[in-house]
Amino acid sequence: MATTERNTELRSPSEPLPPGATPVSKKRGLWAWINKRLPVDEFIASELTGYFAPKNFNFWYFFGSLAMLVLVIQLVTGIFLAMFYKPSAAAAFGSVQYIMREVDWGWLIRYMHSTGASLFFVVVYLHMFRALLYGSYRQPRELLWLIGMMVYFALMAEAFMGYVLPWGNMSFWGAQVIVNIFGTVPVIGTALTQWIRGDYGISDATLNRFFALHVAAVPIILLGLVMLHLIALHRTGSNNPDGIEIKEHPGPDGKPLDGIPFHPYYTVKDFFGVGVFLVVFALIVFYVPTFHGIFLEKANFEPANPLSTPAEIHPVWYFTPFYAILRAVPSKGLGALLMLLALVSLLVLPWLDRSPVKSIRYKGWISRVMLGVFVISFVGLGYLGMQPAEGIYIILSRVCMIGYYAFFWLMPVYSRFDRVRPVPERVVYHAH
Ligand code: HEM
Repeated sequence: MATTERNTELRSPSEPLPPGATPVSKKRGLWAWINKRLPVDEFIASELTGYFAPKNFNFWYFFGSLAMLVLVIQLVTGIFLAMFYKPSAAAAFGSVQYIMREVDWGWLIRYMHSTGASLFFVVVYLHMFRALLYGSYRQPRELLWLIGMMVYFALMAEAFMGYVLPWGNMSFWGAQVIVNIFGTVPVIGTALTQWIRGDYGISDATLNRFFALHVAAVPIILLGLVMLHLIALHRTGSNNPDGIEIKEHPGPDGKPLDGIPFHPYYTVKDFFGVGVFLVVFALIVFYVPTFHGIFLEKANFEPANPLSTPAEIHPVWYFTPFYAILRAVPSKGLGALLMLLALVSLLVLPWLDRSPVKSIRYKGWISRVMLGVFVISFVGLGYLGMQPAEGIYIILSRVCMIGYYAFFWLMPVYSRFDRVRPVPERVVYHAH
């Protein structure tokens, strides 16, 4: 051991390492001291400067790093909110008012957290859409996609429980509606809803457990899943807008010809994305924090009142596409099943796509039209889920639901027969 250390420390930088030797940082002092004990330089060399990403990343590749940024914003602002928030039915609403009016900068922290929740979903939906565009969910990245879906489910649970915490009237009635969906599970439905609530109705007990899950359990799960997501990403390497595997074209040095080191090239690109994102974030936080009743709903400025139902109960915008599906049919049980199927459809996507090419760039017109149908249906459902469940809105919800399902469940057929264009050997990149 001592020989190996001496060998690596005294060698000249150009000299190759002796077999079995651990590379030790060329730097001296504290950095070398740390590196002898923790492989920081090795990590940077293998995962940043030595991690080769395709050179043709575009706009759609901003959102993974932005999702990480929003996760950090949510964790930091959440910790400060938890210092003043009181998780009890009697005190919760008042404690949020106290944060907004009395706590120094409390209004800023709270608006950053509420805006961050909505922007998290904006970023994640765009991130997922990128995968649909370029077939990033396909072999060999199926597990990366599945872990991403687990992240998405955890995020949904996190956002739902967070929304209940201010104990406004929409928190209360929203929780009522969403928890009741579990009541449609055959046989155990009633027992299950009581178990989730810890009571016969949404109550102090429910708020307490949602607080514990929101501030501790789910964030830990989220962090763990995001870590797995990144490990899986680095195992397969990123896909790219051409859907070509860059690892299949290595240069004489074994590095992909179409790859560039993640650091500094993409760290710089991602910093630019962070800058633009923070400007948008600040504009919303400072000028339209409620986003016209979409990010923070009107009914939630009133305390929870079991005796007064808000005129229209619906969840926050990021859940409304699924909520519209839930309400599109008269039977509650069937609605819940259809909603579940909408999520399962996303989950099994890697096995529905049979196209010989990955990227939409080389797919034919049927796949393009179907992707368009999906986007219009999803956005349409999102809008319809915020409208009253009656008349034309219900009919349109059914139409959009069919569009949504058609994209997924006809895919095994249309993706196979759609005419594709030839995929180039190497990625297409035009320097600006
Ligand atoms: C907290 C949420 C998430 C974080 C922090 C995150 C982070 C990242 C990062 C940093 C990348 C690499 C950079 C990029 O490709 O943009 C990435 C790639 C990817 N993510 Fe996520 N992600 C999240 C959620 C999701 C979700 C919900 C899905 C899908 C269900 C997903 C699917 C993917 C896929 C398929 C790739 C590879 C894309 C490609 O190479 O073309 N991610 N993710």
